[in-house]
Amino acid sequence: MTKANQLEKLNLEMSQCSKCALRAGCQRVVFGDGNPQAKIMFIGEAPGKKEDELGIPFVGSTGRILDKMLESIQLRREDVYLTNICKCRPPENRDPLPTEIQTCSIWLEKQIQIINPKIIITLGRFALNYFLPQAKISAVHGIILEINTEKIGTIKIFPLHHPAAARINRQTRALFTQDFQKIPTILKQIKKEQ
Ligand code: URA
Repeated sequence: MTKANQLEKLNLEMSQCSKCALRAGCQRVVFGDGNPQAKIMFIGEAPGKKEDELGIPFVGSTGRILDKMLESIQLRREDVYLTNICKCRPPENRDPLPTEIQTCSIWLEKQIQIINPKIIITLGRFALNYFLPQAKISAVHGIILEINTEKIGTIKIFPLHHPAAARINRQTRALFTQDFQKIPTILKQIKKEQ
């Protein structure tokens, strides 16, 4: 089965998920978007209002920042895969709860297993702490970390600030932009290693 077919099958399963209370309070499950063959997978926090309306991650104002940043390094959404830790919108965009993250993790693990990216770019602290619970984004942003997880195996992660934080804070925006510009070099390095 192709990766696209595997994701399609997974999305169908995900769409029927009601393992936590978030599903009852949102319009739809927001699976992911982009290229199933992508080498880079971006993982955010949870869908916002627009994402919940359209069923596509990163399509609101935060998504526009991400699109612009991708464009600045000559990448398009179609070149990468985008998803979130939580697939359902928390009410009023509140932070996802640890139990919701834990419950939803079965879907993220399966997505990572199917896509098998060369590198995961975590956006914000929730995505970072999913992989490294103790890590502080202020300390590890813009650095490649190689981690070993029981379910996924060894994987490189590249933590970035969340684009929503970059939108509201000038200093965070500068760091986010600076870190983002490292992606082409990382991609070149990954290619060399293959
Ligand atoms: N939109 C998403 O899909 N995820 C986020 O983390 C923020 C906005």
